Amino acid sequence: MAAPKLVPRLRENPLNLASDLDLSTQVLSRVLDLSAQIKRTPLRYAHALAGRYLSLLFEKPSLRTRLTFELAIKQLGGDAVNFAGPIGEREPVKDVARNLDRWTNGIVARVFSHSTIEELARWSNVPVVNALSDRFHPCQALADVQTLKERFGKLDGVKLAFVGDGNNVAHSLMLTAGRLGVHVAVATPEAYRPDPAIVAEAAGLGRITETCDPAEAVAGAHAVYTDVWASMGQESETEARARAFAPYQVNEELFAKARPDAVFMHCLPARRAEEVTDAVIECERSIVFDQAENRLHTQKALLLTLLE
Ligand code: CP
Ligand code: NVA
Repeated sequence: MAAPKLVPRLRENPLNLASDLDLSTQVLSRVLDLSAQIKRTPLRYAHALAGRYLSLLFEKPSLRTRLTFELAIKQLGGDAVNFAGPIGEREPVKDVARNLDRWTNGIVARVFSHSTIEELARWSNVPVVNALSDRFHPCQALADVQTLKERFGKLDGVKLAFVGDGNNVAHSLMLTAGRLGVHVAVATPEAYRPDPAIVAEAAGLGRITETCDPAEAVAGAHAVYTDVWASMGQESETEARARAFAPYQVNEELFAKARPDAVFMHCLPARRAEEVTDAVIECERSIVFDQAENRLHTQKALLLTLLE
């Protein structure tokens, strides 16, 4: 008798946030509105995700992302389990995904390689959220656009200058803020430009400009944003990067070239006297802790949207 044909297992197709474009612009706007509502009346949502559980997987260190996801799910009535360590070493990533989706309602993962997020999303029957990969940091961008909207009362026509490394945070800001009408002006050294494919994609959806001149990007900006010069996983390049990025430090002189009411933004953690001076990050127009606070509210809105 012929062996029966093996049929691949069918999987459901949950909504993910593996990269910024997984949320349509319409859903993205709804998440921001819901986040503002949750921020105003958090207790109304105290049981919204009762009985739901999240898997939090972290291959790299985290303060904000890990704690705000854990707080978000708990303040919505659910709970989280944590795993810290390499994903896909002890068993294939696709097996990890198919264990976690039997136990929990969503997977939040911070990974070295973006392909790990893609593999989790490919195999999981529950939503997968990118808590930072080498290519994107979409949850950060969500909080950042909410922070900009609160500060300027709008996103359309706001100019955000991103100065420094064309990294994961820059990519997500171009894709998320750019899509919502923010002019994202990126200034990087030539060798550290953002991925041209992502720039092209973002430029098809919003106003993106690229330059190697930080003063040009900052001119007329409502917000000046920077991030570390060596991201997690690039520690061996720290010295070479410090040399290349020195002219891109956000100091008083550069910040003064933005609008007089411009704000300073940083995803944190920050390295003072490297990408930003103490005077700038500590000044009254620095809104870095508003960004950090909004991680909590936007991630609650995101979880409600993905898990409900
Ligand atoms: N901004 C941010 O993602 O911070 P953590 O690395 O502490 O999570
Ligand atoms: N670009 C930084 C962001 C940290 C939140 C990194 O990837 O390390």
